[in-house]
Amino acid sequence: MNALTPNRPAVPAPVGLLAELTHRCPLRCPYCSNPLELDRRSGELDTATWQRVLTEASGLGVLHVHLSGGEPTARNDIVEITKTCADLGLYSNLITSGVGGALAKLQALYDVGLDHVQLSVQGVDAQNAEKIGGLKNAQPQKFAFAAKVVELGLPLTLNSVIHRGNIHEVSGFIDLAVKMGAKRLEVAHTQYYGWAYVNRAALMPDKAQVDESIRIVEAARERLKGQLVIDLVVPDYYAKYPKACAGGWGRKLMNVTPQGKVLPCHAAETIPGLEFWNVNDHSLGDIWRDAPAFTAYRGTDWMKEPCRSCDRREKDWGGCRCQALALAGDAAATDPACSLSPLHAKVRALATEEAAETPPDYIYRTIGSNVRSPLKEEVDS
Ligand code: SF4
Ligand code: FES
Repeated sequence: MNALTPNRPAVPAPVGLLAELTHRCPLRCPYCSNPLELDRRSGELDTATWQRVLTEASGLGVLHVHLSGGEPTARNDIVEITKTCADLGLYSNLITSGVGGALAKLQALYDVGLDHVQLSVQGVDAQNAEKIGGLKNAQPQKFAFAAKVVELGLPLTLNSVIHRGNIHEVSGFIDLAVKMGAKRLEVAHTQYYGWAYVNRAALMPDKAQVDESIRIVEAARERLKGQLVIDLVVPDYYAKYPKACAGGWGRKLMNVTPQGKVLPCHAAETIPGLEFWNVNDHSLGDIWRDAPAFTAYRGTDWMKEPCRSCDRREKDWGGCRCQALALAGDAAATDPACSLSPLHAKVRALATEEAAETPPDYIYRTIGSNVRSPLKEEVDS
């Protein structure tokens, strides 16, 4: 038991660590989950600090490390960092766009023990995909990268973030995953935080499109049993109940930013007043147990009604704190994605309205942009 918190029950170990090695990325996806204010290269943690963080993660009981970004292969030390994971017995998953220098580093990553690759694909049609990702000539690079992953015998997961600009391609994504030799496909409807929140009107599909995409996935799951696993993340705004965001606040995951701040989820910095501790000042174990940002919404004591007395409160943990903040103006409110939230009907109506309008142009993810999040403007107006 920790000396600072004598009466608090022991906190179970985190399962996963999302290592956001850098925010640099050749792609500029308008739904990127990185914060609007991206960390610059000059402030990134150095190799030795990442290696110390990974060692502490292993000691804490972490099993999986997701090497992410931005584009993690933009780091010159990605091979060293991956080797450290292997040396520590941590399962390493490279979350990559497959463009830029990714292919050139793949063999070395394999040689030092990389376990798994998750490759993003923005679209099936090359022109559409490259419009969404904001980078010309990305698609052939991704195809070459995927071919090399499969040739090396590494398990490949394709990740497709779905929105109104590519929802017509859901069956194409499934065919593409089979053609590429992927073991798994994530059909992940956009979650509206970070850049996706400011681009919501450009990204929001309508309910009929969403229902059709779910039908296509369910049919393909049957057809491709034993060949391809398809994970489906349904869009919150059209859901009945929210998801257990990040597996529940401070329960399973830690997210380390390029500059070393440790977050309970990737969008936690949008919540005002939370105090984040940095790996430069604290050990990962102390942060997990005692950092104010982790204890703020851990468990159920912080909940208000209807979550407080709901029998799903230890299933979905009240949904997403960041979405509650964005839509209800209160991070401790019930996630308005939940049909039991008093704001649910308003949020659903908002999605329906946006999906019916002509989509505006994308606001592309850019380091040093002046884009600001229009928090809770809808529910206040
Ligand atoms: Fe989950 Fe809260 Fe909705 Fe119950 S009221 S289903 S705990 S979000
Ligand atoms: Fe922060 Fe869901 S993204 S709790």
